[in-house]
Amino acid sequence: MSRTLATTLALTCIFGTLAGPCSGATGGALQVGFYRGKCHSVDVEAIVGGVIRAWFSRDSTIAAALLRMQFHDCFVNGWDASILLDGKSTEKTAVPNLSVRGYEIIDAAKAIVETICPGVVSCADIIVMATRDAVALSGGVRYIVQSGRRDGTVSLAENVNLPAPSISVSDSIKAFSKKGLDSTDMVYLLGSHTVGVAHCSLFQDRLYNFQNTGKPDPTMDSTLLNTLKTRCPQNSTADKPVNLDQNPLSSMTVDNSYYRQIILHRGILQIDQELALDPLTNLTVAAIAKGLDFSTRFGQAMVKLGAVEVLAGAQGEIRRSCRAINTPLKN
Ligand code: HEM
Repeated sequence: MSRTLATTLALTCIFGTLAGPCSGATGGALQVGFYRGKCHSVDVEAIVGGVIRAWFSRDSTIAAALLRMQFHDCFVNGWDASILLDGKSTEKTAVPNLSVRGYEIIDAAKAIVETICPGVVSCADIIVMATRDAVALSGGVRYIVQSGRRDGTVSLAENVNLPAPSISVSDSIKAFSKKGLDSTDMVYLLGSHTVGVAHCSLFQDRLYNFQNTGKPDPTMDSTLLNTLKTRCPQNSTADKPVNLDQNPLSSMTVDNSYYRQIILHRGILQIDQELALDPLTNLTVAAIAKGLDFSTRFGQAMVKLGAVEVLAGAQGEIRRSCRAINTPLKN
């Protein structure tokens, strides 16, 4: 295959401009419009979109909830909706997942599609479609999603090994590269922190005892430091949420404001701030902050994240309930 053709096919997969299968390193096959003609004549994406619009009108924080759910699902066992499974020691019981939210949104969308065409639409695909729609409703681009993922049957808390907020940029690049995502993808994906919140306990060290110095993180803007110290007093038991995007005008909007904030030393998590300072990523951050097309590139990175280690074909199953694996029916 010529290099140009290979590049065109790769771009087609990533940008989803044509309907066609995309095979990843895992052998999975994803397709734009996978459900066309598979759920009678019903447009599955439109059904999910309707649920998300209704939910968003009551709670506009759902984009943040779903973006984080997507990341936490994908980085553990690949994209197989394993985070949704209930149980004593499933992934959702692991500490980094305790503040993941939005499970009811996926349940609501699944309930409707199951009524129309049972056993057809996977929970993993519903997460992808729902996240895309919530991002679009929050000011982001409506990127084209691929589908055809199948749901996993294994979910173990002990497999959850997600990056900590104090991870270095170089270690984070390594973690993303293990999933087939490069450092530019990582910078765009961390742009998800343009919405949503972090709890005080996850950046408290930066306010009072950064790297055991007994002092705050010297890279933090002093006005932000004082605001955060008031919001997150030392030794307080209340673990309050703080907006990850500190621009009050855009903390609910999927845009490039996060990058402008971190350049101003107003990042909340250590990794957010380091992204703007580390020579491995600072030029990309500066370019996005200046207006390099964030929306389109963010959408492309999300599509790439959505193709990580997917189950397809005969692998996995289509769960009847997103919270439980299918059990063999008694006859
Ligand atoms: C090195 C990588 C990352 C680290 C260390 C990290 C860490 C964190 C932490 C500590 C929080 C706060 C959680 C809490 O207080 O409850 C958070 C929130 C969030 N993260 Fe990340 N994250 C990373 C990458 C990502 C990626 C790739 C995405 C999406 C594609 C993402 C989306 C979000 C969102 C939207 C929130 C807000 C959630 C909400 O408001 O409920 N993060 N992240």
